[in-house]
Amino acid sequence: SVFALSPAMAQIQSADQVQSALNAVYTRYKDIKEGKNADYIPALARVDPKIYGIALVTTDGKVHTAGDVKSEVSIQSISKVFTMAKVMEQLGPDAIAKRIGVDATGMRFNSIVAVEFAEKALGGPEINPLVNPGAITATSMVQGKTRDEVWKSILDFHSAFAGRPLSVNKEVFDSEAATNQRNQAIGALMYAYGFIKEKPEQAVDVYTEQCAISVNAKDLATMAATLANAGKNPVTGKQVMKSQNVPEVLAVMATAGLYDDSGKWLYHTGLPAKSGVGGGIIAVSPGKFGIAVVSPPLDEAGNSVRAQKAITDVSNTIGGNPY
Ligand code: DON
Repeated sequence: SVFALSPAMAQIQSADQVQSALNAVYTRYKDIKEGKNADYIPALARVDPKIYGIALVTTDGKVHTAGDVKSEVSIQSISKVFTMAKVMEQLGPDAIAKRIGVDATGMRFNSIVAVEFAEKALGGPEINPLVNPGAITATSMVQGKTRDEVWKSILDFHSAFAGRPLSVNKEVFDSEAATNQRNQAIGALMYAYGFIKEKPEQAVDVYTEQCAISVNAKDLATMAATLANAGKNPVTGKQVMKSQNVPEVLAVMATAGLYDDSGKWLYHTGLPAKSGVGGGIIAVSPGKFGIAVVSPPLDEAGNSVRAQKAITDVSNTIGGNPY
């Protein structure tokens, strides 16, 4: 592994203790009523808010689950992590930092004001690939002669992290494609300012499709565990991305993975993480495990309420905080 672990934190608890932590936390938050499904994408408002699943995959490939890990939600913004990684694989590790930036915006994920500030900034870009403008730009950077080629490479990359062939929730894709005028405006603006070099409409369309990739908690935990395991999927044994690109991906997750609440999140967990408005959150304990929770009701910042609580408790119980 590329990650050096100090002796004090080299081990998480035993498999039995990990499983009891998951069970306890599942019960603790099962009946809470806080939060509300995203509704700015009409299909997301129709998802069952009771779906609640927790999965943890260790870097030695053990899979622990609690609750509903069969029901699928759309991956949404969590896809931004993997498309960012794909761009780094294809164009080198500096491509993201140079073209998009790796700083928190301090604004909402679909802020247009953030684009205005990035455009006016002296000395380089001030945005990141985990907010919509940076993510749409990252999608525009994925190599491929046709839309199909670009799409296939993004979908295959996500599938390799999950360890199974993923597919798209067509209802969510159509619903978001019909209502994503704001993202179309962001794509046009990123093109106008030269961040996106060509085909901004295609970038927004592919970005919208990537957000509709359908996943359950186990898929997401396996994806997170692959990052925890220096880019090698611990279940399939396949090296999915270059290990040397993983630290930069984790750094951007730590900086901007939970948007406005990224600082608070890092303070409580120490874990690089990423949320999506479908209700999923992934978090990575480098060298130890990946964890994911799926539960659609979100807080004001757009992050799943149960997922934040459940991941924080499990990780802190079993020794996931790398600091
Ligand atoms: O572009 C959008 O608005 C959605 N497809 C994704 C947003 C998202 O998941 C923000 N995450 N918390």
